Amino acid sequence: MHSLTPPVRRPRRLRTTPAMRELVAETTLRPADLILPMFLAEGLEQPREIASMPGVHQHTTDSLLRAAHEALDAGVRCVDLFGVPLPEHKDATGSAAGNPEGVLNKGVRALREEFGDDLLIMADTCLDEFTDHGHCGVLSTDRHGATVVDNDATLPLYQEMAVAQARAGAHIVSPSGMMDGQIAAIRAALDTQGFADVAIMAYSAKYASAFFGPFREAVGSSLEGDRRAYQQDPANARESLLEVELDVAEGADFVMVKPALPYLDILCRVADASPVPVVAYQVSGEYAMIQAAGQRGWVDGQQVMMESLLSIRRAGADQILTYFATEAARLLR
Ligand code: PBG
Repeated sequence: MHSLTPPVRRPRRLRTTPAMRELVAETTLRPADLILPMFLAEGLEQPREIASMPGVHQHTTDSLLRAAHEALDAGVRCVDLFGVPLPEHKDATGSAAGNPEGVLNKGVRALREEFGDDLLIMADTCLDEFTDHGHCGVLSTDRHGATVVDNDATLPLYQEMAVAQARAGAHIVSPSGMMDGQIAAIRAALDTQGFADVAIMAYSAKYASAFFGPFREAVGSSLEGDRRAYQQDPANARESLLEVELDVAEGADFVMVKPALPYLDILCRVADASPVPVVAYQVSGEYAMIQAAGQRGWVDGQQVMMESLLSIRRAGADQILTYFATEAARLLR
């Protein structure tokens, strides 16, 4: 007698060949999804490699432009510039940040002159590289005598900084300091100064993360202590949705989740809720870990790089800030 076996689902049928796998791939990665963070340092004769971020440099203006050309040639359409001032140009209010002749604004100008509208120039809108205490805002003393980062006293400085960046040629400003109300304040300043066309990429869900470690070397940070009084607690997910909601209501054109890989759950929830593009920042520590293990041959660095970027996209990121942008884009072309 003919024996009837129940039909068996065979998911492996869709994994058999490269053509089949490509046919059914749900997630894609394009060079244009990637944004390259870059560092321009004052007073350098030569670009200086950041020890804990092999392959990433503090740039001179010349090497910055060269590296930006390489990124564009690989298909990257946006770079995010951070300024590294000389220590003597740091002060309590980070005044070099709003100075048109400050390192960051000069870098933005140089990039815009070189590339026009072919490459989007984004500028980091935060005081921490420019303050002598290393905090993202200005300090004051509260009514109990404690030193605190003063939210509302910081907002006018962010406004000044964003307007200076827009004037220098930034297409996008990116407030990363986690002050409440920073998006509304910056939007209002840009609009009243004639920069209604400049977009805001809001660091909305930014966690007080040890994964930022190598970045502190990259920008020569003066910070002692931590940023837990303004960046989010890694224990919390819900407040990310509140931060996103507020930033969108205040006029954010993009919202960001940062770091990326340890926070894919946050990214997934934000991507479900956000009406604007969602960006993830694969931060310095994530980059350093992949590079370190890759250099030792403990993992295949290139494959882990691509898998991490694909995972970040799969979790819901529309764009990814990554120090791998040029290298990954070349592999994707
Ligand atoms: C602050 C800022 C930081 C990073 C981007 N912007 C550091 C911090 O908040 O301490 C970290 C980026 C990285 O680790 O790659 N302006």
